[in-house]
Amino acid sequence: MYNKATPMKILGIETSCDETAAAVVQDGTTLLSNAVASSMDLHKVYGGVVPEIAARSHIEAMMPVVNQALTEATCTWDDIDGIAVTYGPGLGGSLLIGVLTARTLAITKQKPLYAVNHVTAHCFANFLTKTPLDNYQLPNSAPDFPVLALIVSGGHTQLVLFTDYFDYRILGQTGDDAIGEAFDKVAKILGLPYPGGPSIQAAARGGDDRAYRLPKARLEQPYDFSFSGLKTAVLRTAQAAVGKDFTFPSHQIAPLLSEQQVADLAASFQRVAVETVVDKTLAAFEEFKPRSVIIAGGVAASAALRQELQARLPIEISYTDLKLCTDNGAMVAACGSVMAAQQLPTADPFSLDIVPNLSM
Ligand code: KG4
Ligand code: ZN
Repeated sequence: MYNKATPMKILGIETSCDETAAAVVQDGTTLLSNAVASSMDLHKVYGGVVPEIAARSHIEAMMPVVNQALTEATCTWDDIDGIAVTYGPGLGGSLLIGVLTARTLAITKQKPLYAVNHVTAHCFANFLTKTPLDNYQLPNSAPDFPVLALIVSGGHTQLVLFTDYFDYRILGQTGDDAIGEAFDKVAKILGLPYPGGPSIQAAARGGDDRAYRLPKARLEQPYDFSFSGLKTAVLRTAQAAVGKDFTFPSHQIAPLLSEQQVADLAASFQRVAVETVVDKTLAAFEEFKPRSVIIAGGVAASAALRQELQARLPIEISYTDLKLCTDNGAMVAACGSVMAAQQLPTADPFSLDIVPNLSM
């Protein structure tokens, strides 16, 4: 990608939610390491991420994860050309640990600091095409611009058209819940464990995806999304399935559902949620005629989404490794790597602040 005599290695740090992650990426294309410690198991009992627990876990895991990323990449600090860190959007306490760590390391190790937007970074995971690491399935080639990106995570649902790495237009986004949030909330109604995406995917395998009729939101803007209606429709359908009305508390439904009802509801919800985002991606593909389509964010790990999109898109689509879809440091390092190569402004390590509600 770059005509540089010496390869450039960037350390990426990510702590926006419950994953403490660090990775080393070379020249924006080569994944040298990817270390992740998750506090997910600590949150499971609460059915969602508890911000204070996440922040405390980041404090404990941060430096061991950074050191693991360097060791895995067989790097010392002398080999690192810059540090990239997620400064938003995300949970305030969580972002703070990553940003303070990156600032301190930038000062003490005398490295340039790159402030990275978490949502943009998710897209950059798709530009990683090489790795010496085992167990990673990466695309053979990087996407070609213009790139249509479907960003689907626990916090975001957006269609974005990139004409270059940092030159993009948001075509549409959700006005209420993100798609991942809908997976997580529906899983809770069905009594399935957090995070909802993987557990709904597993439960749906034994279900009939047409067993229940659920609505697709109709919106004025063609590329905008809404998932709160679908989530409520699942709740009403589940209440009716157990012979109750809309006043019946959602947390009392799951024990009354049969295994088959759970599987059918999971499959029906998953089909409608996936079809909704694929319908809009296809419409945007036809209107804007991009050369590549990418999917990014935790829900990009969905097998149903991957199948449906490839089946309906008229071009080949390469998906990145599942481990690079959910939150990770590699996507942050990849983004910082391109920022460094393009000589974009660096952040001040003495003053970089977090921006929990940062948008793209
Ligand atoms: O990108 P991510 O790790 O964190 C945010 O930035 O939000 O995304 C997490 C989201 C969760 O809502 C989780 O349920 C969803 O990604 N997810 C999935 C799958 N794996 C993770 N959703 C559907 N199918 C999956 N296989
Ligand atoms: Zn994310």
